[in-house]
Amino acid sequence: MCGIVGITSNKPVSVSIINSLRKLEYRGYDSAGIATLSNGFINEVKSEGRVEKLEKNIDTKNMIGSVGIGHVRWATHGVPNKINAHPHSSESVSVVHNGIIENSTNLKKNLVSIGHKFKSQTDTEVIVHLITELLKKNDLKESILKMLNQLEGSFALAIIFKDHPDLIVGARRGSPLAVGYGPNENYLGSDSYALKSMTNKISYLDDGDFCIVKKNHVEFFDNNGIKLNKKVLKLSSNEENYGKGDYKHYMAKEIDEQPITIKNCIKEYIDNINNDINIYNFPWKINDISSVTLIGCGTAYHSCLMAKYWIEELSSLDVNIDIASEFRYRKNRFKKDNLYIFVSQSGETADTYAALDICNKNKMKTASIVNVIESSIARDSNFVLPIHCGPEVGVASTKAFIGQMLVLYILILKISYLRKEIDKNLYIKKIKALKELPELVEKTLLTESKIQSISGTFTEAKGSMFLGRGFSYSIALEGALKLKELSYVHAEGYPAGEMKHGPLALIEDGIPVVVLAPRDEYYKKTISNMQEVIARGAKVLLITNKSKEEIFSENIWEKIEVENTSNDLFPFLITIPIQKLAYYAALKKGYDIDKPRNLAKSVTVE
Ligand code: AGP
Repeated sequence: MCGIVGITSNKPVSVSIINSLRKLEYRGYDSAGIATLSNGFINEVKSEGRVEKLEKNIDTKNMIGSVGIGHVRWATHGVPNKINAHPHSSESVSVVHNGIIENSTNLKKNLVSIGHKFKSQTDTEVIVHLITELLKKNDLKESILKMLNQLEGSFALAIIFKDHPDLIVGARRGSPLAVGYGPNENYLGSDSYALKSMTNKISYLDDGDFCIVKKNHVEFFDNNGIKLNKKVLKLSSNEENYGKGDYKHYMAKEIDEQPITIKNCIKEYIDNINNDINIYNFPWKINDISSVTLIGCGTAYHSCLMAKYWIEELSSLDVNIDIASEFRYRKNRFKKDNLYIFVSQSGETADTYAALDICNKNKMKTASIVNVIESSIARDSNFVLPIHCGPEVGVASTKAFIGQMLVLYILILKISYLRKEIDKNLYIKKIKALKELPELVEKTLLTESKIQSISGTFTEAKGSMFLGRGFSYSIALEGALKLKELSYVHAEGYPAGEMKHGPLALIEDGIPVVVLAPRDEYYKKTISNMQEVIARGAKVLLITNKSKEEIFSENIWEKIEVENTSNDLFPFLITIPIQKLAYYAALKKGYDIDKPRNLAKSVTVE
């Protein structure tokens, strides 16, 4: 996803801007650029590809401006190339943008009709020409207000002006934007990661706000130009998690640190003295909630699907799940006693945020489960449960998925106990089982070498299937997503019982099929489905748990055995092999594991 940074200072800013852009690389991008202002000139440098390529094109001795903006672009309109990279500049204005200007075609037509010449294929460039035109007849603030009133769609903007050399204008609608406060300098950034290395004091713009940032003064305004006061938040500093350590990729580190992140998360929520779960300031009476709707995208959606099975197992609550991009346009029936739970690692996913916004507008109960506690989704929910797994840099979500499932499971246990749907003994027994999870995951990580040895089969095949039932079904979906997004080969997650209703036609000699079948209540049925695909030539990788009990079928290609635990906790353990499988498949293909093609860590556009 696109990332924005802006700095206005009492010293040259180009090096700091480049450093901040590096902090935004995790969002996924295909080009980058910077523009600074000095001696009345806008000095713009852009390049396709990585920030390090941009840096090589910058002569910091000449780029001495003390006001500047930077951008990493994830292409929405216009191919990823140098011309379409941001910033976009006229001789008097330079703009960086995250989002989509939905009426850019009409605006461009009007601007071209009065003589404006466009260079790029982007929607963003209309902003440059629009504000340049407005400044001919209005002062700065009026021009900003008129511009914002004419733009439709979503944006986070940072703009510098030749005729206002000491300031940067920021504006937000639908895409997050933050202001950071430093010594004799101030900042704009898409999120706290962009700013963390320079400050731990930030304010967030809300939708419709704009701001004027000077090196020693910041003003905020609403969409009517009325001055606003913004809270200054203190950022939690967890810089130490940024590095890869001695890992080749962030993803490898983030898979292996899951025992630690699970332990940290459990520490946050489980009160060992009273053997109880602490969900802090849960703002509702338990009896005021009779149903739950869980909403997320991608991997986060898979954790919602997992939670549905746990809720059905442990409580009598009605439960629905939905993909955020579907929910936001559905003809929803809102019920006062329904709790809406939004799951999002970044807390900035546009579809999930839009779904939350709709629920807030309907005055619903909203809770969010996030990894970034300063994020928009966290800030705008009634109640937040952080997953405490530290920054997740790899675009493919791993430790955050485990963290999302863990916090959902903890929340469900607590609510089921408060609703008296599980008794004290079972509640304590499940808390005890949870505490053993870090060690069990640690041991399951040891299956790595076998997975590495067979991963090539999945990249050479024309496609693969991941099958599971019940608690394993969502992990089957997650396994297919991981393999697709990392090794760019087709994979499909499917309910094991559904294969005979069509997809069995895909099975032929040598097709790799991962069957997720721990010895839970769905085991025997899943093994029967496994035999159906083996009989048609599939190469089955069976992921099950250690047991002396005989497997029901010979002719299994390979078997991975995870540690033993309670049935409802197997999903945590069978997730490890599918994460490793995707990692090693991508490694064999030599792809960019932490930044897969076309993907972004935080999808802040529709
Ligand atoms: C995860 O492997 C994917 N890259 C992606 O599906 C991700 O889970 C999804 O975009 C949601 O992101 P969020 O958790 O930050 O909202």
